[in-house]
Amino acid sequence: SASLPQGYQLRALRRSDYDSGFLECLRVLTTVGDISEEKFQKQYDNMVAREDYYIIVIEDTAREKNSVVATGALIVEHKFIHSLGKVGHIEDIAVAKDQQGKKLGLRLIQALDFVAEKIGCYKSILDCSDANEGFYVKCGFRRAGLQMAHYY
Ligand code: ACO
Repeated sequence: SASLPQGYQLRALRRSDYDSGFLECLRVLTTVGDISEEKFQKQYDNMVAREDYYIIVIEDTAREKNSVVATGALIVEHKFIHSLGKVGHIEDIAVAKDQQGKKLGLRLIQALDFVAEKIGCYKSILDCSDANEGFYVKCGFRRAGLQMAHYY
């Protein structure tokens, strides 16, 4: 498996990550909105309490500001089928624009895949655009099914 660049560290998201660059990372993905620190922490606490959210970040420890440069999440779904099986959902993979192409995305997926397999998921799934298919193929995924959405 690929290693991280010198000084980069992969770790779990922390309650103190409000100002770490984490939300900036997510902005490469979509609209994040204006979130207060209090609301960030409340959301974090809710997710931790659920125990099925694994949010990881990659940090460039040499940076003083905005040291979080990539993030990704695994959400575990519990099922009745497949003998009370578990499915991993890979969500919100984002690498800061100036950090793309350094295998950080690949390392995120490898880490989330490792967790999913270790906790007994029989598969992990994700939705992505056609433009990102090649990235996920390089990460070991293959096209399966069709996504549908109903926006409210
Ligand atoms: N199409 C084809 N191949 C790609 C693409 C792509 N869009 N992006 C990367 N690759 C290839 C790389 O060339 C590399 O191949 P190699 O091993 O032959 O050199 C391999 O995939 C691994 O690439 P990384 O360097 O790990 O990619 P990166 O760190 O830039 O992360 C990512 C890729 C996550 C798509 C990043 O560019 C990004 O954050 N984009 C904007 C946000 C986004 O679209 N996120 C994904 C949304 S889908 C979801 O969250 C489930």
